[in-house]
Amino acid sequence: MDAVVGFGFTRVTYSVPASRAILERANIAELLAQDEETKDADVYGWVRSLRKQKKIAFAAIGDGSTLDPLQAVLKPGDAAQLSTGVAVKLSGTWQASLGGKQSHELQVETIKLLGENDAEHNPLQPKYQTPEYLRTIPHLRPRIPANALLLRLRSQVIAVLTQFFFSEGFVQTHTPILTSSDCEGAGEVFTVSSNATKDSVQTAKPEKDAQVEHFFRTPKYLTVSAQLHLEALAQSVDKVWTLSPTFRAEKSDTPRHLSEFYMLEAELCFIEGIEDVMSVIEKMLMAVAHTLGTSPLGAELLRARETPAKNAEGGEDEVGASVLMRRWAAMATGGWPRITYHEAIELLQQATVDGKASFTFAPTFEKGLQAEHERYIAATVGEGWRPVFVTDYPSAQKPFYMSPSLSTTNSSGTEGTVACFDLLVPDLCELVGGSMREHRSAELLQAMEAKGVASGSLDWYQDLRKYGSVSHGGFGLGFDRLLCYLSGVNSVRDVVAFPRWHGRCDC
Ligand code: 4AD
Ligand code: MG
Repeated sequence: MDAVVGFGFTRVTYSVPASRAILERANIAELLAQDEETKDADVYGWVRSLRKQKKIAFAAIGDGSTLDPLQAVLKPGDAAQLSTGVAVKLSGTWQASLGGKQSHELQVETIKLLGENDAEHNPLQPKYQTPEYLRTIPHLRPRIPANALLLRLRSQVIAVLTQFFFSEGFVQTHTPILTSSDCEGAGEVFTVSSNATKDSVQTAKPEKDAQVEHFFRTPKYLTVSAQLHLEALAQSVDKVWTLSPTFRAEKSDTPRHLSEFYMLEAELCFIEGIEDVMSVIEKMLMAVAHTLGTSPLGAELLRARETPAKNAEGGEDEVGASVLMRRWAAMATGGWPRITYHEAIELLQQATVDGKASFTFAPTFEKGLQAEHERYIAATVGEGWRPVFVTDYPSAQKPFYMSPSLSTTNSSGTEGTVACFDLLVPDLCELVGGSMREHRSAELLQAMEAKGVASGSLDWYQDLRKYGSVSHGGFGLGFDRLLCYLSGVNSVRDVVAFPRWHGRCDC
């Protein structure tokens, strides 16, 4: 078969081999949706389970394309060579099933084993295994159908985001992983060195700095945020975004923190204030939630959460389908509440006075919002379901690059605050952080000095203010946190295929 593709002025002809093209092969999800009887159907997949009777045997086959297994009907003699987990090619007739559980099944005529399989010693067994145990075998756990579903969720959400940003005129960009600066100024950077005999990546501020060989002559770090580089790119095409690996050497042992995670960041020029940035976030997340609520993948997620997995203590490791549906519905409907930090603290203090809430940490303007405070705000201001924007935090709590709040009167508590926001969602707390960026050079320099940021490595960043500077702002969204929230999985350690956190970096 020949195909013709136009690339501008030239036309390129290429041939697709006459043999069955890989892309034409139906996966199990497609086959399960097919009602017509089909002779010579080929199924590629892995045996999930086997049931052998005297005269007949059944194998459940999966290929990760759906939660549902395909039922293969076999002769007991043929089934003898199969074991749980083995990769197979089964050929036969796809026909109406005699059993009531599934509409169709594969009457197998030929079996081909495609590789080795030691079913007995496989650490992944077809029975309930705790999330803690499964984290010790990250290379095997994506084979569990519910985990394969999370891989597909990640892929679909990225597709929706890519489409969203493209249609809104944002340019997707790639920012560097190796950087010269600690964008957030929190000292949580991993330092990179080339010395293979010592640890090649060490946490920042090592006493043994002298022993580290600096490949780039001066210390370089794994990026903690793409923001500063995105700002540079925004000044060439106005609106940019990236979804990039991000690294933080923080020792937070929580279900929300990883040492390596994906952050979705966007930057926009020619905007007036954080409202513009918040509107982009709202529209973007509405598009994602809407897709989930209307796609087959969303329906599968709900089915997977009908009986949420329990943990060792009998609590739930995942939220149930009804909670998930309410999360998506609230996210798919815009108009989320926006309150200032000042108002949030007042609300928390009043709740304490009224006995409506008691907190481990008393809410004060100076000390900032703790996770328990964020949860209370999401539950009350967001009525338990809607995401809430908290804006205008005190400058003292935020990095050097944020510009002052637009209104500097104290009526809304914006004195000494910066034009920034966090988006809080129920249970998970902070999902997004963003701000307007200080685009005036003198003020930026002043802020850097005030926060003790070494300006040398950020000369290039200062340049952005000197040449063609313009009012701009942006945000960073914890992508793995978003997937947790959307899928109802309670820990980022279980939505990331190969999670890394303090003390753990398996495979
Ligand atoms: O609030 P953060 O630190 O913001 C920034 O880094 C900005 N420079 C982003 C920007 O404006 N371009 O991080 C953004 C988000 C957080 O809201 C949180 O969801 C997520 O990244 N995040 C983490 N996710 C997983 N593990 C961690 N250790 C995380 N730290 C932050
Ligand atoms: Mg933040």
